[in-house]
Amino acid sequence: MPDGGIAMTEILIPGPDAQRALRDAFGRFATGVTVVTVATAAGPVGITANSFASVSLDPPLLLWAPARASRRFAAFHDAEDFAVHVLGADQSELCRRFAAAGDDWEGVGHRRSDRGVPLLPGALARFECATEARHPAGDHVVIIGRILRFSQRPGAPLLFAGGRYGGFAGG
Ligand SMILES: Cc1cc2nc3c(=O)[nH]c(=O)nc-3n(C[C@H](O)[C@H](O)[C@H](O)COP(=O)(O)O)c2cc1C
Repeated sequence: MPDGGIAMTEILIPGPDAQRALRDAFGRFATGVTVVTVATAAGPVGITANSFASVSLDPPLLLWAPARASRRFAAFHDAEDFAVHVLGADQSELCRRFAAAGDDWEGVGHRRSDRGVPLLPGALARFECATEARHPAGDHVVIIGRILRFSQRPGAPLLFAGGRYGGFAGG
C-alpha cells in the first residue's frame, strides 16, 4: 500500500541516476522569488534566487545559496555587502532578466545604497545585508547575511513551484 493510500513515486536514494528526480522533489516546495544584487568592480550584478530563507530575528539574519557552477558565483561569494529583493507578482520581468544574465541592467532604474549596493525599486521587501558567514554546502555555498536596513510594501508575491511561476490563490 502506498504511503497514506496516496500514490507517490518509488522511494529513491540520492545519486547520479536520481539527480533529476531530486531536483523535481525539491521543486515541490513552493517558494517566493528574489533577486540578489552586489556591486563589483565591473558594475552591478544581479541573480534570481529562490534559495532565500529568513533565519533569525535577533540578531537579524537571512540566508541564500549561490551555486558554485554559476559564472556569477565569485561576485556573490566574495561580496561583503548584498541586497535581497523579494519580487512581487508584477516583477516577473526582473526575475527572467536576472535568471538569464547578471549584468543586463539596461532600463532597470536602480540606485546605490550608502554602502554602494545596487537597489532595485518596487520589490515587496528589500533587505540590505552585510555578509556574516559563508558555509560550504556541496555544490552551493550558504551565505548568511546580517540585515542592516530593510523596507517593504503590500502586494501579491511572485511564486515559483514545479519549475513554473504562479500567484497566490488564497484571499
Ligand atoms: C526561480 C529561480 C530560482 C533560482 N535560484 C537560484 C539560487 O537560489 N541560487 C543560484 O545560484 N541560482 C539560482 N537560479 C539560477 C540563476 O538565476 C541563473 O539562472 C544562473 O545563475 C545562470 O547561470 P550563470 O550565473 O552561469 O549565468 C535560479 C533561477 C530561477 C529561475
